[in-house]
Amino acid sequence: MFIKPKYLLLSSMALLGGSATASAQHSFLASEDVAVFYPKGYDTSQHSPSPIFLRELAPIGDVPTDWKIRPRFSVDNGRSIAVINTESDVDLYGTGEVTGDLRRNGTKIQLWNFDNPSYQLDNGSHLYQSHPWVIGVRPDGSAFGIIADNTWKSGIDLTDNVRFESDGPAFRVIVIEKETPQALLATLANLTGHMEMPPLWALGYQQCRWSYNPDTRVKEIADSLRHYQIPSDVIWLDIDYMDKFKIFTFNKEEFPDPKVLNDYLHSKNFKTVYMIDPGVKVEEGYFVDDQGSEADYWVKDENGEVYEGKVWPGACHFPDFTRPEVRSWWSSLYPDFMAQGIDGVWNDMNEPAVFDVGTMPITNQHQGGDGLTPSSHLRYHNVYGYNMVKASREGILRANPNKRPFLLTRANFLGGHRYAATWTGDNASTREHMELSIPMTITLGLSGQPFNGPDIGGFAGDATPELLANWTAIGVYFPFVRNHSIKGSVDQEPWVFGDEVLDICRTAINRRYKLLPYIYTLFHEASVNGMPVMRPLFFADVKDLSLRNEQKAFLLGNDLMVVPRWAEKTAMPKGDWKPLALEDKDDGYQAQLFQRPGSIIPLANLYQNTEEYNTDSLTLLVNLDTDNEASGIIYEDACDGFGYKKGEYAEYAAKAKLDGKQLTVSLSRVGGEMGTNPKRLRIGFVTDGKITYSPWVDSSTVTMKI
Ligand code: GLC
Repeated sequence: MFIKPKYLLLSSMALLGGSATASAQHSFLASEDVAVFYPKGYDTSQHSPSPIFLRELAPIGDVPTDWKIRPRFSVDNGRSIAVINTESDVDLYGTGEVTGDLRRNGTKIQLWNFDNPSYQLDNGSHLYQSHPWVIGVRPDGSAFGIIADNTWKSGIDLTDNVRFESDGPAFRVIVIEKETPQALLATLANLTGHMEMPPLWALGYQQCRWSYNPDTRVKEIADSLRHYQIPSDVIWLDIDYMDKFKIFTFNKEEFPDPKVLNDYLHSKNFKTVYMIDPGVKVEEGYFVDDQGSEADYWVKDENGEVYEGKVWPGACHFPDFTRPEVRSWWSSLYPDFMAQGIDGVWNDMNEPAVFDVGTMPITNQHQGGDGLTPSSHLRYHNVYGYNMVKASREGILRANPNKRPFLLTRANFLGGHRYAATWTGDNASTREHMELSIPMTITLGLSGQPFNGPDIGGFAGDATPELLANWTAIGVYFPFVRNHSIKGSVDQEPWVFGDEVLDICRTAINRRYKLLPYIYTLFHEASVNGMPVMRPLFFADVKDLSLRNEQKAFLLGNDLMVVPRWAEKTAMPKGDWKPLALEDKDDGYQAQLFQRPGSIIPLANLYQNTEEYNTDSLTLLVNLDTDNEASGIIYEDACDGFGYKKGEYAEYAAKAKLDGKQLTVSLSRVGGEMGTNPKRLRIGFVTDGKITYSPWVDSSTVTMKI
């Protein structure tokens, strides 16, 4: 049994002490490779229950004396500090949603969720979400991870060593030690929970803008996507579908019958995602405001008066999502709304953003509950979005208990991947932001959020034909693939810049759809072992130091390396990674793909959407290793629903062997109880510069002479 250490009874007044540093007053091992360090004066009521962990960490023993990574705690000018000294040859990664380089050594960020248009504010040093998490990778490939278990306003400074500094009371630090960064991320996911499997449609191409209105414009977009044969799955509805920006309502003139609109979109095999912001318009007679006011659910100011802040609808009330009863009420708003045929939800502005002042005052009051003590916005600001999406996810499940929720959020916190996917907020239509979107997406993946991506084509400003072509050509390999743009900018749908750009975008998106069996398997991997979908190139060989800085080329899973066409002099992992020529003609824009030696990558036939998609016919791309062998895994299930949790899935092992001149590839069932149709298979044998295909066979074994 866990006996409360003595210091937990000490008052947080100890904080006011001098600035001397001290090693942890108390520590324990939570598992063989996870150590928990508490500072002097730690007050559990200021931090617990932690939003980060799936369950509270419990001691199994003492931290061994030779444990390397240990924080030193101090208080300086009322700020709580934890410093972790690291060797100078350690490469640092993680820190969540950030601009700048993939390798984080020398950087400094604030953890203070904020609406940050074009990442301009405070030099982009704090964006929409916070992840108090740093990874260190040593030259030998071993890795450690550090979590500051703290929601209070804080910052991470990597200019010298690893330093967490906070405006709140002393916080505990958790250190994970593993033999590789991959094993580290698996442990992080064991502690923080795994992303749930999204529905397959959420992995398709998605078309958005602020806003498609009225409803006829939405249909036009859907029709154009089908007309131009751009494989696609989702149309997004930004704020203008609402009546005066009142959440959970529809604009009667422009969207007179949302159900009819959604039925139309469904008939074309599109899904719909609608925006819901946290700010509730202050208006008597508006049901959401009436309900929240009557039940006294709003965030209060320091005097205990209901707080009002301005957002899209004008003056708004803000639900106090720290309260379980408020989350439950919030979730109850979703069933009627989603009954209009809405498939997914987009929670935006949930830092929360407040016009003119940025966000709400730090002195605002939250009531907490379920173990969370009442406290100020300084403590709960960074988890405002997190608690909102926790409630929204519950609401989506209430609406459709048998479907996998799809929820996208702008604000979140470490651990919030359990509730929502994310995008990297309001970037700009610039070459710089296109290049930046690669390390940003990788870094979020390294920070426990596998399902993320940028606005492809860029949000603010006007996309150019060149930019859209280049960005789509890499964006299709990101976990989340959505083209989105700001109101007033030029249109940036794939067809608006003429045939050449249309062809480039279509070819890129076709590649995404053909790769879906592989990508879906990667999402499954993320959902069971926490591996990011998009990975840094150094994951190919964690001991190869020449890969550690690479932030243009990246990995999709373990087996596919993606090199943007515009990228020069990118690093290359050792071994015979073979280029994949997926089309007969090269348009000069598509990313160059390289397949890992020893791997088998499954490709589907081309379908225009995931409703039509199936894996009855698979092309197995084979790049043999030096032993003339290759292998791969394919995961399948119903693509939605929860049957897969009860065994309704199929996992296949693909194995290839070259015997003399005869290449044999076979698929064997290795997991799951889902019945599947027999498959048609063919081999795509990858040699330098070309892929040679075998004939199709109705068998689980294919052979070809090479
Ligand atoms: C915010 C979002 C953006 C959205 C806009 C209007 O700026 O980040 O994606 O289009 O609000 O709702």
